[in-house]
Amino acid sequence: MVPSLLRDPARALIAVGNRTGGELVRLNLGSFRPYLVTHPRHVQHVLRERADNYERAGDGLFWRPVKRLFGEGILGEGQIWSASRKMLQPMFTAKRVEALVDGMAEAIRQAVDELDEPSRHGRTVDIGVEQTRIVCRAIMKVLFGDKISVPDAMRVVDAQDVIATAVIPRIVVPFAPLSLPMPGDRPFRRAKKTVDDVLLPIVRASKATADEGDDVISTLWQARTEDGRQLSEQQVRNDTVAMFAATTETTINVLTWLWPHLDERPDVAERLYDEIAQVVGDGPVRREHLNRLPYTRMVLDELLRLYPIGWIIPRRAVADDVIDGVPIEAGATMVASPLITQRMAAFWDRPDEFDPDRFTPERIRGRHRYAHFPFGGGPHQCLGMYLFYLEAQLILATMLTRYRFRLRRSGVPGLRLAAALRPRTRVELTLTSAAGAA
Ligand code: HEM
Repeated sequence: MVPSLLRDPARALIAVGNRTGGELVRLNLGSFRPYLVTHPRHVQHVLRERADNYERAGDGLFWRPVKRLFGEGILGEGQIWSASRKMLQPMFTAKRVEALVDGMAEAIRQAVDELDEPSRHGRTVDIGVEQTRIVCRAIMKVLFGDKISVPDAMRVVDAQDVIATAVIPRIVVPFAPLSLPMPGDRPFRRAKKTVDDVLLPIVRASKATADEGDDVISTLWQARTEDGRQLSEQQVRNDTVAMFAATTETTINVLTWLWPHLDERPDVAERLYDEIAQVVGDGPVRREHLNRLPYTRMVLDELLRLYPIGWIIPRRAVADDVIDGVPIEAGATMVASPLITQRMAAFWDRPDEFDPDRFTPERIRGRHRYAHFPFGGGPHQCLGMYLFYLEAQLILATMLTRYRFRLRRSGVPGLRLAAALRPRTRVELTLTSAAGAA
């Protein structure tokens, strides 16, 4: 198993999952023997029902290398995590996020305007880069109060890209001590410095004016711990860096897969274009359009099934437990993976095929809640789920009311496992005006 893991880790993991048929199995990776949790019932047990017994261990699989960037905070566990969660959660309720839609729609429209120029000249664009620009413009405006300029934000996204890859050796060899130099360490340090060079001065400068803002950084400065203290600069920095990554990397990556799939499935593309044209007309996209775009949402759900960027959700058992007759000992590592479960033949028909019709309301009702869990579940469930759907619908609807596209190279890129799941190759395309493309 180890050689195929190194050659094409994503495919190898999916193959391992399929071989288990949903049974809870123990993987044999030398001295390291994590349990692979694939059955939706077992995933529910670990992430939600017995969440008290399965902690997100900051010194364990996956998180230890990643934590060198984020430190303690919202992506950790225990008291500091729970304090961060309490502070940040109110910013992402349905009501608060809906109040951001108009500002987000406007920022997205302005950022999409900049595609007119390459489209008029038939120039090829790297859609990953363009989406980075669009997402940064929207998110910096509505969540970071325009404290971070778009070019600075793009520098941070680039540094995150470097980090996502630089941590791979340490994810693959999880128990190498941090004192042992590994490939990737140097680019990691350089990229982390870039993140801090951009974000730390902004975090510091925001302290004095924190009372005035409702952006992420001001909210963190305004927060008080249970004993009435302001957070330390380090903790505000940690949660700012974590929230920056969570709000950018995710949406950008998921949407990049859309274009090759639409190219392969003109029938899906037509339905999507039709829905958007009927609801939005010539635009601009407005808040009231969003809950009238059910097919757009189905397309997003299918992208999240095939490309759940949070591809690994590890936990550590606090005390002994038994799952479906399998004894689990205290200290064991449990690995749940949306990427594996969501592509297993035991739970999905034709699992590798892109087919948004899997997400009609009837078919969703017929499935286990944890057959599709791109946002995790239980107490650590993603804070940004609602935001993701609204933002992604706005971006798709805005782009597709204005443009049609042609891929430079057809074919769906392979999967690359990094700290997040990404396409192996860039997606390049040319855009043409949608006017007259009936
Ligand atoms: C495609 C979009 C996204 C996906 C697939 C995704 C996925 C996930 C997953 C799987 C987790 C659970 C981690 C665990 O249980 O250990 C998570 C947690 C989290 N996500 Fe997302 N995420 C996305 C977008 C966002 C956005 C836009 C935000 C912005 C607010 C966000 C903020 C967070 C935060 C703060 C956590 C940690 C929650 C906690 O542990 O209390 N995510 N995300």
